[in-house]
Amino acid sequence: MAKVRKAVFPAAGLGTRFLPATKAQPKEMLPLVDKPLIQYGVEEAMQSGVRNILIVTGRGKTAIEDHFDVSFELEHLLETRHKKDLLATVRAVSDMIDVSYVRQKEALGLGHAVLRARELVGDEPFAVILSDDVIDAEVPCLRQLLDVYEFYNASVVALMEVPNESISAYGVVDAEPVAHNGGRDRLYRIRNMVEKPKASEAPSNLAIIGRYVLTPEIFSSLEAIEPGSGGEIQLTDGLKHVLRSRPIYGYKFEGKRYDAGDKLGFLKATVEFALKRYDLGQEFREYLKTLSI
Ligand code: G1P
Repeated sequence: MAKVRKAVFPAAGLGTRFLPATKAQPKEMLPLVDKPLIQYGVEEAMQSGVRNILIVTGRGKTAIEDHFDVSFELEHLLETRHKKDLLATVRAVSDMIDVSYVRQKEALGLGHAVLRARELVGDEPFAVILSDDVIDAEVPCLRQLLDVYEFYNASVVALMEVPNESISAYGVVDAEPVAHNGGRDRLYRIRNMVEKPKASEAPSNLAIIGRYVLTPEIFSSLEAIEPGSGGEIQLTDGLKHVLRSRPIYGYKFEGKRYDAGDKLGFLKATVEFALKRYDLGQEFREYLKTLSI
């Protein structure tokens, strides 16, 4: 079975939910405490053993490329000022990854963005990480999916139960539980899936969250399908097309997911991540307690 070596990060979206902050800055660069959103995803890929990062960018996204590049001026300044810790932090970012970029000229949907990475991915399985979905987990979420992939040699998507009133914001699956590792509570075999259904038409309360391990058949499926929800080429529709000839699994991951693409979700993640920080948590907790809320 082919090993998953590459992770695709679609990052060409316009970030309209965060205007005006995202007018001149990519949403992937919004910081949670002191690290840009996309870096959380990149670190998750690295910690899952996937070292080759492919970022699908668009217009106005050069800050992402600069972030993962070496900053000679900054490193020089920190060196002359003997700021060793900061220097190490800055170097760690550029040393971290082997990164390639491909441009999505028009924002025609998530499936379209993934298809742009076809040449760079080639004929091998790969991961997709949506950096809006920040997942705090003991075992990185992508690692959890890779364990399933390595067992079944089939595509796997991350699943989470969501309440009925928000189900129409997601790709939703119709799936049956599968016994796995002695339990039946996390693994599903997917029968069907639908992108952003009306709440009344959702096949279940199991939503797809932004982590995928995909086999390369997805590319020809994405080419074959028509635009779907929102007039866009949807990854969910591509997966549904793959389902005609191959099994796809869903895994209800362990961990806490934050929708950092949403203002409230972003604020929740900021507060909880700050509280967990060894250098900030204590003082921040005390500060929060002084607020009359
Ligand atoms: C995308 C996918 C959707 C998935 C969601 C997870 O939607 O199209 O299937 O459930 O990510 O965050 P978006 O949030 O980009 O509208």
